[in-house]
Amino acid sequence: MEASNIANSNTTNKTKEYDKVLVLDFGGQYNQLIARRVREMNVYCEVHPYNWSLDEIKAYDPKAIIFTGGPSSVYENGAPKPDALVFSLNIPILGICYGSQLMAQTLGGEVVPAPSVASREYGRTETKFDRNSTLFRGIPEEGIVWMSHGDSVKKLPEGFHATAITQSCPYAAFEDPSRGFYAVQFHPEVNHTQHGFDILKAFVLDIARARQNWKMTDFLETSVCELREKIGQSKALLALSGGVDSSVAAALMSKAIGRNLTCVFVDHGLLRKDEANQVEEVFSKYPINFVRVDARRRFLGRLAGVTEPERKRKIIGEEFIRVFEEEARRLAGENDSLEYLVQGTIYPDVIESGLGNASVIKSHHNVGGLPEDIGFKGIVEPLRLLFKDEVRTLGRELGLPSSLVDRQPFPGPGLAIRVIGDITEEKLSILREADWIFRSELEKACIHGECSVPKSQYFAVLTNIRSVGVMGDGRTYDYTIALRCVDTSDFMTATFSRIPYDVLEKVSHRIVNEVPHVNRIVYDITSKPPATIEWE
Ligand code: XMP
Repeated sequence: MEASNIANSNTTNKTKEYDKVLVLDFGGQYNQLIARRVREMNVYCEVHPYNWSLDEIKAYDPKAIIFTGGPSSVYENGAPKPDALVFSLNIPILGICYGSQLMAQTLGGEVVPAPSVASREYGRTETKFDRNSTLFRGIPEEGIVWMSHGDSVKKLPEGFHATAITQSCPYAAFEDPSRGFYAVQFHPEVNHTQHGFDILKAFVLDIARARQNWKMTDFLETSVCELREKIGQSKALLALSGGVDSSVAAALMSKAIGRNLTCVFVDHGLLRKDEANQVEEVFSKYPINFVRVDARRRFLGRLAGVTEPERKRKIIGEEFIRVFEEEARRLAGENDSLEYLVQGTIYPDVIESGLGNASVIKSHHNVGGLPEDIGFKGIVEPLRLLFKDEVRTLGRELGLPSSLVDRQPFPGPGLAIRVIGDITEEKLSILREADWIFRSELEKACIHGECSVPKSQYFAVLTNIRSVGVMGDGRTYDYTIALRCVDTSDFMTATFSRIPYDVLEKVSHRIVNEVPHVNRIVYDITSKPPATIEWE
């Protein structure tokens, strides 16, 4: 495929008119959060690798630069460092944690490792702020910040003075306002830092004077214009899963190119109750070509007898690509100008793909992971600059219903990884009914105020266990359904939700009475880690 990706360059034209903040990424775990916080101020912000060249930075033209934290030590060989000339661009810079040490060291100060484990700071730390600093002018003189560092600044560079202090860190913050350089050893971006958002705001709005002109309505209008301009009269194909990202991408593309968009929705037979019909119903109202491919037999055929979770995921991923390729070829045959493939990639995917090496616990399958060699001229990723909640806001702006925009995550392999062991039509249909009862009872209980506990994702699992029960006067030997409900902000860790027993009892009663071949219900009380959210 030619490299003619639209909205696929790291910096796009459409961001030109916004005041921008550039986050230079040194590998810290809260980096995305910094960008989120800045965007919450309605100031546009992007994260780029620490070694972005000076020319790239100049071309980007940020109002301010933020150096993130990171796991390295500045005095280590090969420690990540930006082009030192970044300090001569006359752009305000805020260094956070590793970024603050980097600033100190580059400008002539001294950074040293903690002399002992006891002198490292980790966690909530009491701090005193100098309120003469613009950074801390609007916050109380004392407060709690989130620290996470081994190294410390021992000597400040010339021109700098300290502006915050903790019991073991005399330079918890320091600055040289005459040059626009500010540094904090703690993490203002995490919620544990009291007034952290105010500190970031003071830097972005008061010090860098960035204008708060990043709005979703503007984004919508500019992207529609840009997409129209780039795609022109060509045609595009989008793999629609019914998930939030691909649905919002479809609605946006439909606004931009209308009937020149064809959405292919593959029904793999592993969706929840009524899900396929709901997706079709929503998108049949849009002026697009909607193709629903009934691939249920094909998927279930390939999955027959397969019990190993990773194998299931692999088969589904491969089969999806095959079905999609066939459909793309068929459509291209009918229409020789089908030039673009649209994907619902979002910003965290973009940032994560350039970073880290986290070990693979499960190979996630998404319909976004399509092959690039199926004869398209370019890939369009209209959401690649948006965070998840921004995608949801855009979806609302585009008139998508809450049932799609506020959907819980649903795994690409669908119910295949919620039927433990081998998958059959019968098991899928048992699970669909049980899952539907659980979700609707929980939602009802929420509305009636009977279940206000936090819950981010909830579903049923058909365990592969059958056990003995008694119904009426007879013995039964039927399946056990497990109910799973977790609360999480990032889906990396999660705690099980404390659903009231009364609600669980109602759900249990309904499932055993209404769903054939189920005689036992259990509630999963494991957090993540050690368990994962899904069972497979
Ligand atoms: P785990 O089970 O890894 O799940 O704790 C974390 C989140 O990811 C979802 N999940 C998937 N999403 N493709 C997806 O698109 C997948 O293969 C997949 N596996 C898990 C899961 O539902 C939860 O929200």
